[in-house]
Amino acid sequence: MQDTSFAIHPGKKKSLKHATYQDIGRLIDYDQDGHQLHIRAEHGFVTVLFYDDKIVRVVMNPYEKPALDESFAVEIEPKRDAIKVIDEGETLQLVAEDVQVHIQKAPLRLSVTDHQGQVIVSESEQGMAYNNDGHVICFKDALQDDHYYGFGEKTGFLDKRGEKYTMWNTDVYAPHNPETDPLYESIPFFMTLRNGKASGVFFDNTFKTTFDMRVDQTDVYSFKAEGGQLDYYICAGPGPKDVLEQYTNLTGKAPLPPKWGLGYHQSRYSYETEDEVRELVKQFTEREIPVDAIHFDIHYMNGYRVFTFDEDRFSNPKQLITDMKEKGIRTVPIVDPGVKVDAEYSIYHEGVTNDLFCKYLEGNIFFGDVWPGKSAFPDFTKDAARKWWAEKHEFYTEKGIEGIWNDMNEPAVFNESKTMDLEVMHDNDGNPKTHRELHNVYGYLMGKATYEGMKSLLDDKRPFLLTRAGYAGVQKYAAVWTGDNRSFWEHLEMAIPMCLNLGMSGVNYTGPDVGGFAHDSNGELLTRWTQLGAFTPFFRNHSAIEFVYQEPWQFGETYEAIIKEYIRLRYKWLPHLYKLFKEASETGVPMMRPLFLEYPDDEETYQLSDQFLIGRNVLIAPVIRPGVKHRLVYLPEGVWYNYWSGEKYEGNQRIIVQAEIDTLPIFVKQGAMIPEANVKPSTAYDVDEMTLHIYPDDETSSYELYDDDGETFSYERGEYFEMDVKVKRDGTLVTIDASIQNDRYQPAWETVKYCIHDVSSDVEVVYNGEKLEHISFENRTITFER
Ligand code: GLC
Repeated sequence: MQDTSFAIHPGKKKSLKHATYQDIGRLIDYDQDGHQLHIRAEHGFVTVLFYDDKIVRVVMNPYEKPALDESFAVEIEPKRDAIKVIDEGETLQLVAEDVQVHIQKAPLRLSVTDHQGQVIVSESEQGMAYNNDGHVICFKDALQDDHYYGFGEKTGFLDKRGEKYTMWNTDVYAPHNPETDPLYESIPFFMTLRNGKASGVFFDNTFKTTFDMRVDQTDVYSFKAEGGQLDYYICAGPGPKDVLEQYTNLTGKAPLPPKWGLGYHQSRYSYETEDEVRELVKQFTEREIPVDAIHFDIHYMNGYRVFTFDEDRFSNPKQLITDMKEKGIRTVPIVDPGVKVDAEYSIYHEGVTNDLFCKYLEGNIFFGDVWPGKSAFPDFTKDAARKWWAEKHEFYTEKGIEGIWNDMNEPAVFNESKTMDLEVMHDNDGNPKTHRELHNVYGYLMGKATYEGMKSLLDDKRPFLLTRAGYAGVQKYAAVWTGDNRSFWEHLEMAIPMCLNLGMSGVNYTGPDVGGFAHDSNGELLTRWTQLGAFTPFFRNHSAIEFVYQEPWQFGETYEAIIKEYIRLRYKWLPHLYKLFKEASETGVPMMRPLFLEYPDDEETYQLSDQFLIGRNVLIAPVIRPGVKHRLVYLPEGVWYNYWSGEKYEGNQRIIVQAEIDTLPIFVKQGAMIPEANVKPSTAYDVDEMTLHIYPDDETSSYELYDDDGETFSYERGEYFEMDVKVKRDGTLVTIDASIQNDRYQPAWETVKYCIHDVSSDVEVVYNGEKLEHISFENRTITFER
């Protein structure tokens, strides 16, 4: 009766008293073991250690000396240098290169500052604690001006101040409302922005965790887990980009995906037959709408048995996949973890005989209902199961498939709890743990098995993997789409802060189902959503069974033409987006950015949920309401150009822009350079014309034009193209210096068409020392080719 007023019956009121926790008490003694400091306190044990110069790890175990090597997410080792410990009687100071940890002894309270003494995180009234149920909790001071970001995949607006979130991977088909929590991903990480400076907290605990950021009344935030250790890392920043770099140093950088992963993807639950798929391909070709991948949802399988094709519906999958590939279109089949119980089905048979499924302590296999009916679930915490699953993907790669879509991997089970029984005992490579403890890493480990399997099967080709569930560090293996949204304008709006906060949680490669998954889409909504999708890192149109089809042409010619233009725009911008993906794979800073990431001192940006940046200097302001043909846009400091009209604006102001249905407001900052490709039917076709748009500034600005073969790991072996372009405007003189830094990969284009914006007819251009003559001038823009 939760959906009637009975839910708020007065008799159900819970006591408002907070759960009582045992405080850790005072420090009793401590010992330094090289790079670690071990503290024995009245009620628990604490270890402090450093990673990099700016990451401090604190681990509290109520019962024994903390275990330090059980992380699923962390990729790096701690620093080995001895910590400098200064005992000042009532306090201890741990001095590292860039940060300092202050430990008050009675009661034990811990703070981290930078060397100027600026507080990064602090404990005052309350600190670390636990209760009799084994829950661990930590309280930290919250300041009036703190803003919080990250927390992975959450509904709501950009700034998470005032919110409370739970991490417990959950399959939620019900509409994603502001109060719908948790969703599919658990990324127990957040960033605090305090007076323009940023720091991060990564709470590396796989149990159900809760972050309480309802700080206005308490000036305290907390994070807690239902078990395990209080094990957290503080990333000291000081800039928000530094925090992302530190966090992804810890949990791993995302690999560069294949270029086709960045193209337009078309999906549907489901394209049910080979004929339907062939017709779809034909439509894209005839209508000249670029497309890089078609996703095969569950109907391709025989009775929803993974690693099979239904032979009646898909009589010759290999031929189909080959034919599609010839047209430059990849296939991405869905692979769920549930394996159908069927003694004559080889996957089930092997899983049982080789002891690869999740089991109870007593040895019986856990069965749960998913699409195939009664199913068993591989125990991805077990190396042998991961290897087995990885190798099974030969079924797909042998047919020419290079991408996989992992779904239902929370794992989702059709029962009350929506998942596996909590007492299932995972093998965990010989260190058995319950599902209650490892639930949140199930999908992550499935992703690891799948990515690594595909990588070894694809013979140097980069795999594409899409996942619904994950844990901190999921970026190493997969792109994340935001699950079963609906064709609601509110969900279009929500997709922006949701993707931005995934980006603030280390996950660059993310996007919503464009057009909305459940519910019926319509022309206007799909058009506006495609405009957004063209600039989200992952760009896939997907819709659910029993709702209207929403391929680009489904709502008439007018909408089709606009949708097509924006899919084409994606392909035009792909060189720039790809370059930003490259950057994300090196720094952890995402392609799609909240404005505060570039303007951390500008308060106007802290809660800006309906516009975002692509890289440093392109601003996107989608229209997110029906019937709306204009919107307010906030332009931060600097000079900005309307991408479409060239109109120039001073920043630090709000403007109203006209945005008819065919217009996505885009603004480009002075100093920006944007490479644009000529549009091809998919990334399988070489770009052979390259234009570099330059918006010159009085200061020197630079851009690195990057390219590689887009599909193998050869770029890691130095086979890429990089050209450094430097531009400066001095009155009527524009100086361009372009120098090739690396040409061990040769793009198909041989010259670059330069397009310099906002110049007057008397402009002089000096290109690599040569004064250019006879350059064409039109609309305050000059163009020339070199
Ligand atoms: C889940 C997925 C959805 C998929 C469907 C059928 O609901 O989130 O994307 O289409 O299952 O496989």
